[in-house]
Amino acid sequence: MAQPIQQCVIPAAGLGTRFLPATKALPKELLPVGNRPAIQWGVEEAAAAGASEMVIVLSEGKELIRDHFAPSPALEELLRARGKETQLEAVRSVSSLAQFTYTYQDQPLGLGHAVLCAREHVRKDPFFCLLPDDVSYGAAPVLAQLGEAFQRFGTTVLALMRVSEEQISRYGSVAVAETVGKYHRVTGVVEKPAVKDAPSLLAIMGRYVLLPDIFDHLAHQAPGAGGEIQLTDGIGKMLGTGDIWGVEFDGELLDVGTLEGWYATLFRLAPAYAPKALEMAQSVQ
Ligand code: UTP
Repeated sequence: MAQPIQQCVIPAAGLGTRFLPATKALPKELLPVGNRPAIQWGVEEAAAAGASEMVIVLSEGKELIRDHFAPSPALEELLRARGKETQLEAVRSVSSLAQFTYTYQDQPLGLGHAVLCAREHVRKDPFFCLLPDDVSYGAAPVLAQLGEAFQRFGTTVLALMRVSEEQISRYGSVAVAETVGKYHRVTGVVEKPAVKDAPSLLAIMGRYVLLPDIFDHLAHQAPGAGGEIQLTDGIGKMLGTGDIWGVEFDGELLDVGTLEGWYATLFRLAPAYAPKALEMAQSVQ
């Protein structure tokens, strides 16, 4: 059996342009989704998958993310003095979710480049990578399902979701050679293909198990779709030296990285987290 995965790289250095002006000063990854910022949902998912160290890739000006996960002794003391035990526990649990390591991406050159920026902090073992602009929703968190696939196959693992022809050009698409239940053996990847060039309608979503060899490929990767250094292109190079498996995961990844997705996610989560919210919204219509 493969070693359990301990580290999770979380790229959070992007510009968040789709959310401007909300993200002018506030990092997109700190936009609230219910009572937690988006990135905390991701960290909780990674911790639930067994990761004990988060390597977060920041850019200058996004230090509030670091502040969020740091202990807050003064606030904790105040909550303790006021007997606010529930809130105290909520605050305390944030900094004890995992060990946090931070690194910087100087320029937003793309997701592949952001992952490359984590290289010096990643040990020579397979690691998780999670994009915090999707929230895992369902009985089994998506990253844990990828961890299970890694235990089974010992390879790079991708999260796959079946999408429509209209949607595929927004994602990476995979070519599949073999399917075993929800697992697909991947033989090719294409980032943001035109529909006619998409090898399948299975889209690559923002959850990965990556092997450390990926860094060598990313270091030599030329810019791809959109002029950015694409993680998908680096993953494609991994096919030269080993298999890649994809998991058509159970449950959902809810998009919180676009305005529409963020609103839709709040509606989806309201019944579970703020049951009176929908009633209140309807009563004012
Ligand atoms: P997105 O493309 O969704 O984020 O990247 P963005 O670039 O910040 O958003 P827009 O398009 O301008 O609105 C997915 C994740 O990858 C990170 C982002 O911070 C986000 O968490 N990312 C993206 C980086 O860390 N570096 C990059 O160069 C690009």
